[in-house]
Amino acid sequence: MTSVRANASSKRRLRPVGIHNRRYLGAKTRLLDLLERVVSAECGQPSSFADLFGGTGVVADRFNAPNVRIIANDNLRCNVVPMRCFLGTTDVDMARVAEWIAELDAMPATEENYFSHHFGGTYFTEENARRIGAIREEIARRRALEIIGEKEESVLLTSLLYAADKVANTCGHYDAYRMKLDKTAKLELRVPAIRQEANRGNVVFEEDANRLAGDIDADVLYLDPPYNSRQYSDTYHVLENLMRWEKPPVVGKARKMDRTGLKSAYCGRRAPEAFRDLVARARCKHIVVSYNNMGKKGDDRSNARIPDPVILDALASRGSVRHFEVPFNPFSAGKHNICFHRERVFVCHVER
Ligand SMILES: C[S@@+](CC[C@H](N)C(=O)[O-])C[C@H]1O[C@@H](n2cnc3c(N)ncnc32)[C@H](O)[C@@H]1O
Repeated sequence: MTSVRANASSKRRLRPVGIHNRRYLGAKTRLLDLLERVVSAECGQPSSFADLFGGTGVVADRFNAPNVRIIANDNLRCNVVPMRCFLGTTDVDMARVAEWIAELDAMPATEENYFSHHFGGTYFTEENARRIGAIREEIARRRALEIIGEKEESVLLTSLLYAADKVANTCGHYDAYRMKLDKTAKLELRVPAIRQEANRGNVVFEEDANRLAGDIDADVLYLDPPYNSRQYSDTYHVLENLMRWEKPPVVGKARKMDRTGLKSAYCGRRAPEAFRDLVARARCKHIVVSYNNMGKKGDDRSNARIPDPVILDALASRGSVRHFEVPFNPFSAGKHNICFHRERVFVCHVER
């Protein structure tokens, strides 16, 4: 990735930021090679690839090419905005956008605002929180005045989201902040590195996966639903709040907004039923599913919601099924305490 010069008069070079440069629970960044090998061996070269639980969008991005139509989706705005930016943006003048990002990055932010009031001194330093709130307000203002369009807005918001996440005083999610506020690096906006030439024909949705499944056709339908009862709308509430910018009241120590309407059936007891329903609706040639098994834990919140027999039966009801498994180490809890588990990929060749 090369850096982008903001404008002729400015000597400042803004650093680029790629789609992978984000911390996200369950992101398949380290499984991409395996997924690509499996899809290539089992499904050939798809001309369309749908990722219904897109998250960061890194899986859809791996299959994104000028001759492949990507359909990406997630039910959270904090994922849809970056996917629109990296996978959906076409015909945007990136030199101009880089200038806007440089202007936003240089904006003074001395006054308290919604974001600093609620998230300053906890999730972010006071200064970073003031800047995040001021930049978000300015993006909203430019959009309301139609100085920027929807595509440019998604690029500016993505620049802000990635920058905020980099300096957040958390261990990668927003269920809580770290008691010691020692993440004091200054917020730095970067320019999203977008492959616009690959994005033609792509579409990004903000929908419930089950509702969307019956409305779209794809060669490959990739499913990576949440594994356990931890709702993504809980763990990423700060970023969701920032992207929506409806400035709702927040409550409790973690300062969460009301997340009614954002809860996923895949994190609850109805997960098996939701999975069966989704597979039944699929309109595609191949269904590819990632689902990990972290083993049975004492803490029920961490246990997988969909038992293997449910996955296998649901897929078998549509066609022949193959199953791949690799050891996967998503995180380490200290030097000598590495948590190994297995990540599985199921492929169903749809016959009925
Ligand atoms: C395991 S993560 C996917 C990670 C993604 N594959 C990546 O590599 O970043 C599951 C995602 O599904 C989304 N999600 C949960 N329930 C959903 C639903 N019913 N419809 C659409 N998206 C949903 C969550 O917001 C979360 O981003």
